[in-house]
Amino acid sequence: MPPYPPPPSERLPQTILHGENSKLPLLSLSPQTSFSSPIYLLSPPYHPFTFPNHARSLNTTFSSPLSSPSPSETHSQSFDSVGDATSSRRSGSPSSPPTADVQQKIDVNPPKGTRDFPPEEMRLRNWLFQNFREVSRLFGFEEVDFPVLESEALFIRKAGEEIRDQLYCFEDRGNRRVALRPELTPSLARLVIQKGKSVSLPLKWFTVGQCWRYERMTRGRRREHYQWNMDIVGVSGVTAEAELIYAIVMFFKRLGITELDVGFKVSSRKVLQEILRCYNIPENLFGNVCIIIDKMGKIALDDVKRELKSTGMSDEAVGQLLEVLSIKSLAKLEEILGSSGEAVADLKQLFSFAEKTGYSEWIQFDASVVRGLAYYTGIVFEGFDREGKLRAICGGGRYDKLLSTFGGDDIPACGFGFGDAIIVELLKEKGLLPELSFQVENIVCSLDPDLQGAAALVASILRGKGQSVDLVLESKPLKWVFKRAAKINACRLILVGTSEWQRSMVAVKILSTGEQYETKLDELD
Ligand code: HAM
Repeated sequence: MPPYPPPPSERLPQTILHGENSKLPLLSLSPQTSFSSPIYLLSPPYHPFTFPNHARSLNTTFSSPLSSPSPSETHSQSFDSVGDATSSRRSGSPSSPPTADVQQKIDVNPPKGTRDFPPEEMRLRNWLFQNFREVSRLFGFEEVDFPVLESEALFIRKAGEEIRDQLYCFEDRGNRRVALRPELTPSLARLVIQKGKSVSLPLKWFTVGQCWRYERMTRGRRREHYQWNMDIVGVSGVTAEAELIYAIVMFFKRLGITELDVGFKVSSRKVLQEILRCYNIPENLFGNVCIIIDKMGKIALDDVKRELKSTGMSDEAVGQLLEVLSIKSLAKLEEILGSSGEAVADLKQLFSFAEKTGYSEWIQFDASVVRGLAYYTGIVFEGFDREGKLRAICGGGRYDKLLSTFGGDDIPACGFGFGDAIIVELLKEKGLLPELSFQVENIVCSLDPDLQGAAALVASILRGKGQSVDLVLESKPLKWVFKRAAKINACRLILVGTSEWQRSMVAVKILSTGEQYETKLDELD
């Protein structure tokens, strides 16, 4: 018999759970291990993907080709996208899960427009988020987060934005109107107001969070996506926007994306403001006008003109506005608006900062960029791929009045949102997707079922030294162990065999070189 319990030097604190028929291996547990978590048994045995009728009481929802659309597909929407089941139900109307009297197979696909993240996708997501976080750290930003579920009122603005029609909203059990956040900026504004004077300005906050929009799905546009946001609260000058754009440039560079692949279209909503002022268009129509202009290129130009006129703009004002929106040169803009206005001054200053910081080749003036969210008040920008294959990669701008619309003090603020889905499409396009393989440093295996506990001890020693270990949990032939080692990219194989264990030693094989040696347990690192 091998020496078990293990050598005194490495003795485990407690050894419990010995299988009744003694064929079960010994399991060694630390004193902290408890068995308080409930054990769920399905009896009689059910197929993993079938549930009995009573599962409804666990709020399980069903979907079958014959049943009504899944709950995710019953939200209100004016369009019926790509083969989607149409529903006349308003988003938020109470709907109960479909009932089933017989056992039904669940739909193993995630709801339309949403994603699972199996390990390989999760590796990519983690890699992307690490880059988001690292760039934010390099710029001195602190991470924050908010609930995915917010009060619906936070996202309802008067200007008729597309985002409102895309809201996943419903009434909760306490009759409160709530919504899955379609974006992060309103939550950030809410938190800034809530913190009040307890935070010192400027705030530099970043967040990476999931957002939900009932969108028409196109390449890189989904019904859920993660957004990286960086926001600066409390700085009124365009140095803030310049810093934010520079952070995105730095992010692109880290990923191998250059100014030949992407660029930023930059403008200022003050351009529009100045034109509207010339034509005595009331200030309160400003948000609506921006939203209408954002539809250019998405709907017919005549419809854009008609919508603009419906706000009270004269033919002449509409004509002048559209003419200015076609300008792509700052010098030309200055010719028309003069150099004394804030719009031109802000833009010139931003381009000058970009020049000095060394990223001016990434940005270009384009008066047609206004963005589809009503709250922007100043500089606005959008990242685009130069081949024109994808929708906006990222976008942001200044929103100096958002906090006061929520009842807070006016505090200048600006920021951007950067989606996780479109950048992956761009990386694919450019052949820049990283190879991210799973890797475990050690695979530990006992050569005798009676040594399973000893192998667990070896694993625990290595884990205690910060090393990752895949412990082979069942008795397996060596051929299987080598295959598994290759699959998980293990660097070392550690074999716990009887004769070595009697001498408090283990056998080590470096898998990349084939080098093999024995080592003492207390020298293993
Ligand atoms: P946004 O332009 O609506 O701005 O979204 C920002 C970015 O999120 C987009 O450029 C895109 O990368 C990504 N995105 C948006 N919707 C989807 C979707 N359905 N599927 C995939 N990706 C999507 C905002 O949300 C602002 N709140 C950004 C901001 C932060 N402004 C100031 N601070």
